[in-house]
Amino acid sequence: MRTVAVAGEGFRAYDVHVGQGLLAHAGDLIAPLSPRRRCAIVTDETVGGLHGARLIAALERAGVASTVVAIPPGEASKSFSRLAEVCDALLALDLDRGDQIVAFGGGVVGDLAGFAAAIYKRGVDFIQIPTTLLAQVDSSVGGKTAIDTPRGKNLIGAFHQPRLVLCDLGVLDTLPDREMRAGYAEVVKYGLLGDAAFFERLERDGPALLARDAGTLEAAVAHCVAMKAAIVAEDARDHGRRNLLNLGHTFGHAIEAETDFSLLHGEAVALGCALAFRFSAREGLCDGADAARVAAHLAAAGLPTRLDGAAGAPFAADRLLKHMRQDKKAEGGSLVLILANRIGEAFIAKGVDPGAVRDFLITEGALT
Ligand code: NAD
Ligand code: GLY
Repeated sequence: MRTVAVAGEGFRAYDVHVGQGLLAHAGDLIAPLSPRRRCAIVTDETVGGLHGARLIAALERAGVASTVVAIPPGEASKSFSRLAEVCDALLALDLDRGDQIVAFGGGVVGDLAGFAAAIYKRGVDFIQIPTTLLAQVDSSVGGKTAIDTPRGKNLIGAFHQPRLVLCDLGVLDTLPDREMRAGYAEVVKYGLLGDAAFFERLERDGPALLARDAGTLEAAVAHCVAMKAAIVAEDARDHGRRNLLNLGHTFGHAIEAETDFSLLHGEAVALGCALAFRFSAREGLCDGADAARVAAHLAAAGLPTRLDGAAGAPFAADRLLKHMRQDKKAEGGSLVLILANRIGEAFIAKGVDPGAVRDFLITEGALT
C-alpha cells in the first residue's frame, strides 16, 4: 500500500491510501474516525451489488454499523431531486454530525454524496472509497463536490474535503473496459499537464495498466494522487494553478454537452486533450510533433482524438463555442483555456480569441 497525504490551507489534512485489497481493511481505517461507530454508505446500485457486501462486512468486523443508500448509476443521478432523496434518507437514518457518510462508487457517487455531506446538517465528515479509475486518480481527491442542472454540469456544488480516501485497486477488476479507458484519459492528463517523464512511462506501461496489472496500477494511481495533492496544497479553492487539472475539459465539456453526455467524461477529456494540444500547435505555442504524439497515445488506448470521428459528429462550431464560453473558468465571457508549450508543460491561457478557436474547430471538422 502507498499513502499520499493531502494538506492545504483551510482544511484538515487527510490520507489517500492506494493498494490492492484495501476494502477488507476499510473498517479498521474508518473506525477511528467514527466516534459513534455509525455510517451511511452512499453507493450506486451496480457498485453496491458487486462490492457492497464486502464493505459492510469489513465495517462490521471493526464494530461500525452501516446503512446503504443506493442511487441509480449514471450522470443523471447528479441532480437536485436525487440529492434531496439522499438527504432525506440520511435524515430518516438520524445520521448526526459524529457519523460518517461513505461515498462508495465512481465520480457520480463521490460528487453527489460529497455534496450531500457538505450541506447535511451544515456539514458532516465523509470518506471516499472510489471504485473507478477516474475517481481514484481525480474526483475522490481535492474536495470538489457538485450536481448538474439542465444548464450545465457541476454548476451547483461546494468544496468539502473528505477525511480519508481509500483506493482499492482490486475493485477495478469488475470495471467495464470502456470505463477503464475513460479513467486512463485522466491518468494521461497528469503527464501532459506537468510530468513528461510520467507520460513517457505511460507510453510504455499503458497496456499493462489497462490490463489492470496490480503493480503498474498502484504506481500510476499513487503518482497521479501525489500530483493532485501538490496542486491542491497550493490552490485548494481553484483560483489559479488547480485550473491546470482542467486540461482538455473546456473542449471536452462542450462536446459532452453537445452529445447529451453519450460520450463518457473521460472520453471527452481525451478528445479535449488532443484538441488542446493541436490548438496549441496551431497557435505556435507547441510543436506539432508533441500534439501528434499525444493523439497517437490516446488513440492507441482506444480513446477518441478526432472531432470529426467522434460520436455525435458533426458538431456546429458556434454551439461548441457557446458551451466553452459558459465554462466556469471563463471570465466575463472571454475564453480561458488550458494550453501547452510541450508535453508536461501546460499553462493557463486567459483571453483566448474566440475567433481563433472557431476557425480551429472548423479545421477539425466542425460545421460553420
Ligand atoms: P460513474 O461514477 O458514472 O461510474 C461509471 C460507471 O461505472 C457507472 O455505471 C458505475 O455504476 C460503474 N462502476 C463504478 N465502479 C465500478 C466497479 N468497480 N465495477 C463495475 N462497475 C463500476 O463515472 P466516473 O467516470 O467514475 O465519474 C464521472 C463523474 O465524475 C462525472 O460526473 C464528473 O463530472 C465527475 N468528476 C468529478 C471530479 C471532481 O474533482 N469532483 C473530477 C473528475 C470527474
Ligand atoms: N478535477 C479537477 C479538480 O479537481 O480540480
